[in-house]
Amino acid sequence: MAKARIASMSISVLLLLASSAVVADIAKNKSSSGGVFWATAKDESELVTKADAEEHDEFEGGFSSLDGMLQWAIGHSDPTKLKEAADDVQRLSANELSKRQVEIKEFMEKLKMPSDAELMLIAIADLNNSSISLEDRLRALNELLILVEPIDNANDLNKLGGLVAIIRELNNSEPEIRTASAWILGKASQNNPLVQNQVLELGVLSKLLNMVKSNFTEEAIKALYAVSAVIRNNAHGQELFFAEAGDLMLQDIMSNSSADVRLRRKSVFLVADLAECQPESSTNRAELPFFSNRLFLKSVVDLMASNDLDLQEKSLLAIRSLLQLASTEALVFKEFCGLDEALERMREQLEGLTEEEFQRDYARDMEILRREVKSIFHRKLEKVPT
Ligand SMILES: *[C@@H]1O[C@H](CO)[C@@H](O)[C@H](O)[C@H]1NC(C)=O
Ligand SMILES: *[C@@H]1O[C@H](CO)[C@@H](O)[C@H](O)[C@H]1NC(C)=O
Ligand SMILES: *[C@@H]1O[C@H](CO)[C@@H](O)[C@H](O)[C@H]1NC(C)=O
Ligand SMILES: *[C@@H]1O[C@H](CO)[C@@H](O)[C@H](O)[C@H]1NC(C)=O
Ligand SMILES: *[C@@H]1O[C@H](CO)[C@@H](O)[C@H](O)[C@H]1NC(C)=O
Ligand SMILES: *[C@@H]1O[C@H](CO)[C@@H](O)[C@H](O)[C@H]1NC(C)=O
Repeated sequence: MAKARIASMSISVLLLLASSAVVADIAKNKSSSGGVFWATAKDESELVTKADAEEHDEFEGGFSSLDGMLQWAIGHSDPTKLKEAADDVQRLSANELSKRQVEIKEFMEKLKMPSDAELMLIAIADLNNSSISLEDRLRALNELLILVEPIDNANDLNKLGGLVAIIRELNNSEPEIRTASAWILGKASQNNPLVQNQVLELGVLSKLLNMVKSNFTEEAIKALYAVSAVIRNNAHGQELFFAEAGDLMLQDIMSNSSADVRLRRKSVFLVADLAECQPESSTNRAELPFFSNRLFLKSVVDLMASNDLDLQEKSLLAIRSLLQLASTEALVFKEFCGLDEALERMREQLEGLTEEEFQRDYARDMEILRREVKSIFHRKLEKVPT
């Protein structure tokens, strides 16, 4: 797998290595020790959860792990030597090439690639250094963003002083730095209760919630991503979230038609997630308070009339989850939120969409979901004592 990814790369540094066989061999050893560089496409797809998919959905302009490694390698190499090596390799015969492979292999073994922990320490030391340039600071953060992806590395982050260093950057005057820092916290916390609790312990949830209100769109989006990752399936995190009025914040975003559409999608997605995945420890707890707040529920239902299809779909998913909670009242959905009318308007709109060939399949799937929501709603209504 690593071999396939490496073979598809045509960057001069890899000329140095001359053979993907050697690289793949080393890669195997590296990956067995949990090395970040060799996280393969398949590993990633296996790890994709719903929340990840949501993140990837809206992921723009990032870079893969291998790119990150190359950046690092190029940054730490002598450019003249790189060039000479690349020229040399092009002149070699097959025989010389295989001899060269052996030499490279020995060289690599001697060189001893730094471990992920060492790479994280270098990046953290850079963050701790107040005199480095903005560019270097951003590069250190981008490296950490990649390095924290494997769970073992994320688990080490706090031990190495990384969380404290990253959290300090949430106060940086540059929005780009704050954005990257929030992104790392989100990535490290994703599906990782240990890191979630460390982040909560360090008291940054309220800071992240404030960042969601930033007028810098990317900062707001990455902060909301981090908030979602930190509280997902975490009872303590969700309690803090409500204590900090996180529900009102979501309501404000959902009902603000000038808010960025990605932020609105993430908000309603978080609502669906909160309604759907109640933490196990909460079974004996009263259900979370906002699920019975009618203004909150209306802000979700109103999104069904949005002109963004994705937002409409996510609101349907959220409503489906909310309807299934015992604490939500069918009559509130009917009388206060106007769910019947919203469902009917959506039916008409979807009927219109099926006339356009390129949207037909999508409209059909949405209609199936719409009918499911309608039937759940009506079953809930039937149970209301008259
Ligand atoms: C990979 O590890 C095995 C033993 O764990 C060793 O024999 C082999 O030489 C290593 N290969 C490389 C390329 O480091
Ligand atoms: C960075 O600073 C933090 C505290 O501010 C400290 O815990 C950590 O050891 C430092 N790490 C490095 C690599 O300088
Ligand atoms: C901090 O960064 C500056 C500028 O890059 C560098 O000269 C200095 O050696 C660094 N300090 C430490 C302690 O690494
Ligand atoms: C960030 O700034 C706020 C307000 O100035 C301050 O209270 C907080 O301690 C700072 N956080 C960190 C981690 O430096
Ligand atoms: C964000 O708001 C501040 C004032 O609150 C303003 O100075 C800044 O220009 C705004 N930034 C953007 C990107 O609109
Ligand atoms: C709605 O969002 C826009 C854009 O982010 C923001 O400027 C405005 O203050 C928000 N309005 C309310 C009522 O929150």
